[in-house]
Amino acid sequence: MTPAGAWLCWASLLLLSRPSQSCPLGCDCFVHEVFCSDDKLAVIPPDIPPDTTDLVFVETAFTEVAPWAFGGSPNLTKLVFLNTQLRSFRPDAFVGLSQLRDLEVTGSTFNLSGNTFANLTSLGQLTLSFDKLYSLPKDLFLGLDTLESLQLQGNQLRTLPWGIFRSLRRLKSLNLGQNHLEWLPGGLLHPLSGLRFLRLSDNQLSQGLPRGIFATLRSLEELFLDSSALRELPPELFSGLFRLERLWLQHNAISHLPPTVFSDLGSLTSLSLQGNALRTLPADLFTHTPHLLSLSLSHNQLVTIAEGAFTNLSSLVSLTLSHNAIVQLPAGVFRDLQGLVKLYLGSNNLTALPPGLFHNLSSLELLNLSQNQLSTLPEGLFSTNHNLFNLALHGNPWQCDCHLAWLSSWLHVWSDPLLHINAYCAGPAYLRGQLMPSLKEEQLVCPASGHLGLDHRVVGGGWGSEAEDKAAWSRCTYSNAEGTVVLSCDEAQCRWLSVQLSPRQGEGFLDMRPNATQGWDLRSSCGSVRVTVSIEPLAAGP
Ligand SMILES: *[C@@H]1O[C@H](CO)[C@@H](O)[C@H](O)[C@H]1NC(C)=O
Ligand SMILES: *[C@@H]1O[C@H](CO)[C@@H](O)[C@H](O)[C@H]1NC(C)=O
Ligand SMILES: *[C@@H]1O[C@H](CO)[C@@H](O)[C@H](O)[C@H]1NC(C)=O
Ligand SMILES: *[C@@H]1O[C@H](CO)[C@@H](O)[C@H](O)[C@H]1NC(C)=O
Ligand SMILES: *[C@@H]1O[C@H](CO)[C@@H](O)[C@H](O)[C@H]1NC(C)=O
Ligand SMILES: *[C@@H]1O[C@H](CO)[C@@H](O)[C@H](O)[C@H]1NC(C)=O
Ligand SMILES: *[C@@H]1O[C@H](CO)[C@@H](O)[C@H](O)[C@H]1NC(C)=O
Ligand SMILES: *[C@@H]1O[C@H](CO)[C@@H](O)[C@H](O)[C@H]1NC(C)=O
Repeated sequence: MTPAGAWLCWASLLLLSRPSQSCPLGCDCFVHEVFCSDDKLAVIPPDIPPDTTDLVFVETAFTEVAPWAFGGSPNLTKLVFLNTQLRSFRPDAFVGLSQLRDLEVTGSTFNLSGNTFANLTSLGQLTLSFDKLYSLPKDLFLGLDTLESLQLQGNQLRTLPWGIFRSLRRLKSLNLGQNHLEWLPGGLLHPLSGLRFLRLSDNQLSQGLPRGIFATLRSLEELFLDSSALRELPPELFSGLFRLERLWLQHNAISHLPPTVFSDLGSLTSLSLQGNALRTLPADLFTHTPHLLSLSLSHNQLVTIAEGAFTNLSSLVSLTLSHNAIVQLPAGVFRDLQGLVKLYLGSNNLTALPPGLFHNLSSLELLNLSQNQLSTLPEGLFSTNHNLFNLALHGNPWQCDCHLAWLSSWLHVWSDPLLHINAYCAGPAYLRGQLMPSLKEEQLVCPASGHLGLDHRVVGGGWGSEAEDKAAWSRCTYSNAEGTVVLSCDEAQCRWLSVQLSPRQGEGFLDMRPNATQGWDLRSSCGSVRVTVSIEPLAAGP
């Protein structure tokens, strides 16, 4: 809790309870609780009520804790120093506090000597955070057999002495984050066989972690190694971590992974490798982590992913591959991901997708294809994704022609209209800049390129029923050679005419002024037609 938060909390207690007995100057006393926040408090008050269990100092002025300072409060269970001027604990400072469970010193600048905490035989939680500690004596935690939580984050530790944790067999949580750790002795963590949470985030471990440093942590459930300048991981680094569920490796400089590095992590549910320098993934990297639910590989340099990379990840719910350099994906790469709900492929270099790429993803709800180089998508790409409703398509050079007609229909039926509003057409010329989802299916045509005489009667084609075939064959799309004038007709009538006038010079657009008339011969393989357009100003009226 922040000092301000703590103060508010205690201030609200003030309203609930009345001071019960004499209270030291500069402090507020409640039932078993004393709160001192006077910045003129130059010594620890000798008259703290003897039945006090919780004692908190905030922004006080005293600089040391004298021997036997709390000898008169044998029932203290919680002692907190927040942002005080404390600089040292004298020997025997904590003598007599055999009931103390929780000791916190946050936001001070002080040095610690060897046996400062030796008499705290019931201590369960020790917090020494943001105290500018730059080293710790080897015997500092000796005898703290009952300690379960040790929080040392936000100091200036560069390393730790071998053996410093040798008494801490009951420790469950260790936080060494936000220090300057460069190097750790190999056996440092070996005594911590009961450890469940270990945080080493925000350090400078560019020299790497010693082989086997985590080898005995058989109970570890969560390991934070993010933002620690790691360049590589020894192949056996995570060996034996059979209970590990969450592993955070984001924001390092890891450029390759040993193929078996995760192979003991059968309990892993969450893995982040975001923001590293991976170019490839070894085959079988994830075959022994079948319980993974969330995997992030975003912000790496992956160019492609091997076909078998995600086999065995049938429980995976979220897969993030965005912000890489992926150019293409093998058709079967997502084949085993039956449980996948969210798939992020945005900000890559994808130019085309195989037609069956998402076919096994029956649980897929969100698919992000934004910021790629896709100009079209194969018809039926989402035909088995019956739960897909959130599709991000913006930032691609969509070619809005007959090949995307199916997508336009699909979007109208299935997708949330608010989510793909930025999918603009890059072509053909007469639709450039239009919102693809707002186009009607009959606008998504393949203009005849006249001189080539291509069969462009593909609108509505490809579904095979006789009636549909007939409808398709009875529709004709005529266009000029530049594709700037397009007319779409069926047997009964012409339904749609597009004339693209010149927004820019020199791109083959037409230039028409008021009072002008212009005609074009349009061709299709059904034949040719002539279209004439005139522009006449009308008399100004009411
Ligand atoms: C400390 O707690 C014990 C047990 O609750 C109680 O009997 C004793 O009176 C307390 N001591 C003081 C000084 O209040
Ligand atoms: C802690 O010890 C170092 C080196 O002995 C010294 O430079 C520093 O001033 C000390 N800090 C305090 C708060 O006593
Ligand atoms: C406090 O701890 C020190 C070092 O372990 C020990 O010598 C001393 O006897 C203890 N004092 C009390 C009162 O428990
Ligand atoms: C896939 O996971 C299962 C356990 O769920 C395991 O038995 C099997 O060996 C794994 N497959 C491969 C190819 O490793
Ligand atoms: C995408 O490919 C182009 C051309 O190969 C290349 O210039 C560009 O850097 C690539 N972009 C990414 C994000 O890899
Ligand atoms: C989709 O990906 C793009 C680019 O990677 C990102 O900017 C956008 O926020 C993502 N949208 C969703 C809904 O995740
Ligand atoms: C996934 O796809 C393969 C072929 O690509 C198929 O054999 C398999 O049955 C599919 N699995 C599921 C669960 O749909
Ligand atoms: C357009 O044509 C009308 C009638 O033919 C004529 O009255 C008008 O002056 C013309 N306007 C321009 C700008 O040429």
